[in-house]
Amino acid sequence: MTLIRLQRLFTDELSKRSILSRPPEPPPDALMNDPLKSVFIGITGVFNVPFYWSSLNITNPHMAIVGITGAGKSYFVKSFLIRASYVWNTNAVIIDWAGEYKAWVKQTGGTVVSLGKGDFINIMDVAGMRPLDRVKQIMNSFSILTDIDMFPEQKRLTEEAIEQAYLNNGFALADIAPEGKDAPTIKDVILLLQEKLQEGTYQYPAELENAIYRLRQFARPGEDYFSRKSTINIGKLALSGLVDIDLSGMSDERFRALAALFILQTLKELMRSMGWSEVKGLKTLVVLDEAWKVAGDERSDAITIVREGRKYQFGLIVASQSPLDVNEAIFSNVGTVFILAIKFERFLNYLQGSLNFSSYIRSEILKFGVGQAAVVMSFQTSLKFPGTFIIKRIYGEEPLKVYRIDITSILTQSEIESNIIPRTFEFEKDSINSFLVEIGLANEVIDKIFSDADTKNRVIDIMSLVSELASNQIPSISIVNLLKNIGIDDSIIARILSRVKTNE
Ligand SMILES: Nc1ncnc2c1ncn2[C@@H]1O[C@H](COP(=O)(O)OP(=O)(O)OP(=O)(O)O)[C@@H](O)[C@H]1O
Ligand SMILES: [Mg+2]
Repeated sequence: MTLIRLQRLFTDELSKRSILSRPPEPPPDALMNDPLKSVFIGITGVFNVPFYWSSLNITNPHMAIVGITGAGKSYFVKSFLIRASYVWNTNAVIIDWAGEYKAWVKQTGGTVVSLGKGDFINIMDVAGMRPLDRVKQIMNSFSILTDIDMFPEQKRLTEEAIEQAYLNNGFALADIAPEGKDAPTIKDVILLLQEKLQEGTYQYPAELENAIYRLRQFARPGEDYFSRKSTINIGKLALSGLVDIDLSGMSDERFRALAALFILQTLKELMRSMGWSEVKGLKTLVVLDEAWKVAGDERSDAITIVREGRKYQFGLIVASQSPLDVNEAIFSNVGTVFILAIKFERFLNYLQGSLNFSSYIRSEILKFGVGQAAVVMSFQTSLKFPGTFIIKRIYGEEPLKVYRIDITSILTQSEIESNIIPRTFEFEKDSINSFLVEIGLANEVIDKIFSDADTKNRVIDIMSLVSELASNQIPSISIVNLLKNIGIDDSIIARILSRVKTNE
């Protein structure tokens, strides 16, 4: 009996059999762009090719990054922004939902705008636009964030009052506003509606009252982040190096979304007014990290930036734990998707369905550790080769040692689910260190806190930190000051202290 039988075959018949399958990687010349004009990301999984990202050979510069918490999304974004600024002098505006980028941006010499903590934006600021266009944008944001579309009369009243406020301040609605002229605020709009109500001649006073009530939510003392004179020059936002718009100081998810929508609208207008460019390039990157409401709604200008950005050298980077929260139009229009560790089958089903990668790549994603990624690229070429490949680890820039203080253990399940309260606070090692020295903690104890954190991905649990301080006889007042400095809310501080007392 023979074990092997030779068979005569014609080449066309041979080619139908998939004996030789294509390696799951694009050819090296698609991955290795000129290092002086591209950004190094990491080494590929199969052939160890150094992958240098450039927008030149792909359909557009936009990116989506998905992965579970701790997978390395923000780390990637930070490394990418730093290198993009070296290579192309790219500016960046980070819409920073949870204050994750603040410490890092400060360290790299960028600008931090902390809304709700000293910084304000007047959503009626025109920044070189026609007031009429700003009115439309404000109404659009209210449509996304409130139920105003269900009440056409209130919508009309609000829109008219906003227009009137511009007119009263000497603006011509259809003309580009002169620079430096003070815009009215939402408070002026509320006053106009109140006057109308007091006149008592309007037919539907309840409609007026409700319109006033809705606007007041954005103008209450302490929560009037959007109805005071702007403390930032929004007209210069797109060309100011690295700018972090820290939204973590605002008390409500809706306020954060309004700020994010406003920034996107302004950036879109600036982008259009700068004119389009024939050459490819990256003038400004806009980063949306975990801003689901803003990345998910099709009326949001995130979508406009994705659709039009390329010709204006604007790129959008969207990072999210849940791909289902990112609008389909973003996924289908970005040139590059980075898929980091994902554990949920339904997320993988969705990604595989819309990006169409192999089951080999899918099984690898399930095994990913921190910093590993599958990359899906839309190459602009007539040649056929796979656009999906794996990189062993994203190589990062670590300009500083950042530690995270995690307060999840003190939050209730519903607080965790509602995602309103920030769960982690980032600090540079030196800054926590000096806090701890100041309140009188011994050096050995401080060293122990950091070495423990190093074994846990540099995460410090708030309860173990506070118990350590209490057992080292640090007075409550110093602990409270420390927690306040971290940025923890007073009610949560009270909860932490009472938990420590009951544990004693
Ligand atoms: N490629 C990498 N190489 C080395 N360390 C990494 C890498 N990616 C992430 N890390 C480390 O892992 C930790 C978590 O990363 P990161 O904050 O980027 O996660 P994330 O995906 O943004 O999580 P979240 O969704 O909670 O914001 C950080 O301490 C970071 O320094
Ligand atoms: Mg993150």
